[in-house]
Amino acid sequence: MTKILVIDDERPILEVLEISLSSEGYDVITAENGEEGLELFEKQGPKLILTDIRMPGMDGIEVLKRIKASDNEAEVIVITGHGDIDSAISALQHGASDFINKPIRDEVLLLSLERAKKKIAINEQLKGYTENLEQKVEEYTVELRQAQEELIKTERLVTIGETVAGLAHCIKNILTGLRGGMYMVDTGMAKDKPSMLEDGWAMVRRNIEKVSDLVLDLLTYSKERVPEPTLCKPNEIVSEIIELLHKRAEENRVKLIQLVDPNLKEAYLDRDGIYRVLLNLISNAIDACSYDTDTSSKAWEVIARTKLETDVDAGETILFEISDNGTGMTDEVKAKLFTRFFSTKAGRGTGLGLLVSQKIIREHGGEISVESKAGEGTTFFVRLKREMPEDMEA
Ligand SMILES: Nc1ncnc2c1ncn2[C@@H]1O[C@H](COP(=O)(O)OP(=O)(O)O)[C@@H](O)[C@H]1O
Ligand SMILES: [Mg+2]
Repeated sequence: MTKILVIDDERPILEVLEISLSSEGYDVITAENGEEGLELFEKQGPKLILTDIRMPGMDGIEVLKRIKASDNEAEVIVITGHGDIDSAISALQHGASDFINKPIRDEVLLLSLERAKKKIAINEQLKGYTENLEQKVEEYTVELRQAQEELIKTERLVTIGETVAGLAHCIKNILTGLRGGMYMVDTGMAKDKPSMLEDGWAMVRRNIEKVSDLVLDLLTYSKERVPEPTLCKPNEIVSEIIELLHKRAEENRVKLIQLVDPNLKEAYLDRDGIYRVLLNLISNAIDACSYDTDTSSKAWEVIARTKLETDVDAGETILFEISDNGTGMTDEVKAKLFTRFFSTKAGRGTGLGLLVSQKIIREHGGEISVESKAGEGTTFFVRLKREMPEDMEA
């Protein structure tokens, strides 16, 4: 039963309205003035209110204002005197849902009440929808977040699994090398064969170097690093690496050549990072020559070039170019180059070098690319913006 509050200072009108509305099925509560009406409204919270406008004390407009202020969804119909257009307009302006004239005609009143009831019902429905919608959105958000967390977890697990498997493989290879070296050292001592002892030691040393390389690569790979640029000489980095790898190249009958650009003087670079990248690339180039099965009298060469490229728009770029005429790569190898633990060196490689190099170059905002042809050779290009401290501040 819909509750309706009727406020009118004229007792007979109030009584007539109470009878007719009750017979229409409304639960009628009545008040003889504005104050009493408001009190009833606050206590019983009817959604439908019918109030006379002209009343001594608090008038209908004031009642309307207060009701709307307390419950904006309450529907207030005002009763105006015949021809009192001003009051009717004022009531509508203050949010009355309708006005009816005196003398009140039942069919007009009932129609107006029906409309008000519909409005209340629609409002309630709308409120239900919005609340429902908000709840649904919240539910979906929670579900989505859970799904995302699951995904991250499983992906991380896969990565950890792969990393551990790859690592175990790497370490096993190094251990085999170490054991072999130790066996040679032992035998060399027991049988008093100095050459065996020497070879054994070299093998041990190589494998110890491999462990430290592996650890360094793993650390570089697993950490989010921010490059720490210092003012340094790119050509000097190349020279140092050539110096370091000189002997290894010679042992493999590879000629190491450096062609550095004299215009490239200083640059602001993370020296350790770039050193590691070039060391990886030049080592790989020497390996590519030493693995080359080409038996024709090919003269193997590894060339390390630097170039300062200037462009009006892009500014200055440092180019490191490492090329070799070793094995080259098939498309299959090229596609897997930067994948974790991908190595064709059967136990002699870790398969982390290029991955780590790419990471370092990307952290520098630079680019690494490759051109290669199976049986002919490979060239790696590393491009870095030549930034100087004053650029970086700007
Ligand atoms: N200069 C190159 N010429 C031919 N193949 C190369 C060259 N550089 C890299 N590769 C290929 O890429 C693979 C991955 O290199 P890298 O990540 O440095 O690992 P690793 O040297 O330990 O094998 C190598 O095993 C090799 O197959
Ligand atoms: Mg390598």
